[in-house]
Amino acid sequence: MVKAVVLGAAGGIGQPLALLLKANPLVTELSLYDIVNTPGVAADLSHISTQSKVTGYLPPPKGSDLPADDGLKKTLAGADIVVIPAGIPRKPGVIRDDLFKINAGIVRDLATGIATTCPKAAVLVISNPVNSTVPIVAEVLKKHGVFDPKKVFGVTTLDVVRASTFVAEVLGDLSLVSKVSVPVVGGHSGVTIIPLLSQSTVPLPSSLDQSTVDALIKRIQFGGDEVVKAKDGAGSATLSMAYAGALFAENVIKALKGATGIVVPTYVNLSAHEGGQVIQKELGSSIEYFSVPVTLGPNGVEAINSLGSLSSQEQSLISAALPELQESITKGVQFIQAPK
Ligand code: NAD
Ligand code: LMR
Repeated sequence: MVKAVVLGAAGGIGQPLALLLKANPLVTELSLYDIVNTPGVAADLSHISTQSKVTGYLPPPKGSDLPADDGLKKTLAGADIVVIPAGIPRKPGVIRDDLFKINAGIVRDLATGIATTCPKAAVLVISNPVNSTVPIVAEVLKKHGVFDPKKVFGVTTLDVVRASTFVAEVLGDLSLVSKVSVPVVGGHSGVTIIPLLSQSTVPLPSSLDQSTVDALIKRIQFGGDEVVKAKDGAGSATLSMAYAGALFAENVIKALKGATGIVVPTYVNLSAHEGGQVIQKELGSSIEYFSVPVTLGPNGVEAINSLGSLSSQEQSLISAALPELQESITKGVQFIQAPK
């Protein structure tokens, strides 16, 4: 039995993500929460002929005697996995860090509901800026004495999905896309997104000129901007994110149910894991959060794997990413530890 929850379920990501989870035979119960429209989304999905029972909750109406978190807590009760795409998206001219002002508080309040209702659930954070929202979730759970570093994940799968697609395009054969896997490490914002092209399962030809490689790296790092620009004010990636979020959620669910050998990049706490400490040493940095290849298991993060051998360009990209990443992490931690 697997109860999956989506917080922010009526949104651009939330709705298609909920659809994909409803279509997933591993999910036996699907519960949806948003500040608007969740009953409608839940009613619609509930007609789909798959086994999961679907429920949808809202906050109590104004003037209600119920506590403000009543709907949230009903949604979260008994959850095994909670996916969070709640919060505002970007528009042209906005960077992910600009979303902090609004999304930090949203994520804090949702994490409080998780801490007090389903503290053992795996928490998958999609809301931007991921580099800060994951530390926010962790700090809230710590405050309630229920932080399990094996269970909190920043979802960076869209970067991995983009890397496969864009590499296959450069190789000139989109049919290769299912064979192409590229670890993407670091964080989820511009220069903190670091594709390890040297480890692509389908190698790039050595004849490829450096400017093509540079352009490919840039496209993976700034793929989000491409969508924001094309949507022209109507938001950011939703459908590709729902696909990526559902893929990552499925991997987590499979591992929780006992599947072995699933290794995926995700943004996690490093210092709580032996493998994470090794990476910190390799990076020469005490950075607390980083996207790394993680082996998933029945308790969440089973092991953090090595970054493998890196080209000198990849080493430089990591060095360039660390200051911005550290700043975003500190900002998230401070938001909970020392709120202004
Ligand atoms: P959206 O505006 O379409 O949907 C967000 C939903 O969150 C809305 O339905 C809104 O009502 C809901 N919401 C707001 N406050 C809430 C609260 N307190 N509790 C519950 N729900 C609440 O936005 P979107 O396009 O779905 O994007 C959502 C977030 O995901 C954004 O922050 C975006 O930047 C981020 N994102 C992350 C990635 C990634 O790779 N991690 C990719 C794409 C988008
Ligand atoms: C993405 O990478 O598409 C998301 O982080 C959304 C964005 O703001 O670009």
